[in-house]
Amino acid sequence: MTGGAGYVGSHLVAKLLEDDNEVVVLDDLSTGHQQAVLPDARLIYANLSDHYMVDKIVSEGPWDAVFHFAALSLVGESVKKPYYYIQTNLMNGINLIQACAKHDVKKFILSSTAAIFGTPLRQPINDFSRIVPASPYGESKYFLERILLWADKLHGLKSACLRYFNAAGCDEKGRLGEDHRPETHLIPLVIDAALGRRESVSIFGTDYPTKDGTCIRDYIHVSDLADAHIRMLPLLNEQSQVFNLGLGKEYTVKDVIESVKRISGRQFQVDLLGRRPGDPTRLVADSERLKKTTGWNPKYTDLDDIIRTAYVWREAHPRGYSS
Ligand code: UFG
Repeated sequence: MTGGAGYVGSHLVAKLLEDDNEVVVLDDLSTGHQQAVLPDARLIYANLSDHYMVDKIVSEGPWDAVFHFAALSLVGESVKKPYYYIQTNLMNGINLIQACAKHDVKKFILSSTAAIFGTPLRQPINDFSRIVPASPYGESKYFLERILLWADKLHGLKSACLRYFNAAGCDEKGRLGEDHRPETHLIPLVIDAALGRRESVSIFGTDYPTKDGTCIRDYIHVSDLADAHIRMLPLLNEQSQVFNLGLGKEYTVKDVIESVKRISGRQFQVDLLGRRPGDPTRLVADSERLKKTTGWNPKYTDLDDIIRTAYVWREAHPRGYSS
């Protein structure tokens, strides 16, 4: 697993270990944390731009599957650094896919994103909605999805591209959490404001065509995301797959703020700012096909329940994994 020291990857490591798998994590710890990799997994410090190293590690299989999480993943940052984003995500992904094809890996699961869709006219967004990325980040993931199609056609590498909507929450056993530096994601920032660790929280854009003028997202618990990855493995015996991964529920930025206020019982300052470039108005998943095909049944179906797990971890870890 590349990027297994990151937020979503570390939660999948935990699930794979619970199911008695052997897990090898490749991570350069540029955004991930060594402490996020549970001790039963083996961590190899590696940067995927080093294709000799990637090739050597992949050659040491056999592997049941390769999960690719390592990537730059901030929509807003990608608009400011488009070439850096596209180059990094694309080149690193190609190095890995190429090594997998060469060393006869059979199954590849890509951490893809709802950001490939832009803002489609029809919501919720199903697995076959038109792909029109609204940011270089979304574009970089779409490139990788395309390359995986060729890896299947030409080398028989079966892949599952899972387009995440907004990953949120933390491991319910309290072992793992969300620790980005700097933090730019809405839920941890709002929680920090509630905990008095920030003076205020900003809302980026209040003039969107939504019920309260703020952007709509579909928040999905990170452990439910991890569970969906494992369900891809039997499907890949047959053919490559694409699935959208969300709850299909709509929450505005203001809904998230209200939820944190309810859970924390605290008030805090909210600043109304202009739009953040690259942000689509509404991203809501239709994951019915995933449910029907795999029996995936998310455990967390309510925003408050998801945010509560994030709140508990963040309150207990004032300096994230350095606490
Ligand atoms: N937002 C604010 N204030 C903040 C931070 C965010 O108003 O301080 C807003 C954003 O403008 C957006 C919403 O809250 O409307 C969610 O923003 P996040 O930064 O938490 O998440 P994004 O929707 O930008 O992106 C996340 C992942 C991407 C993924 C995307 C898919 O970071 O990798 O979800 O939906 F592609």
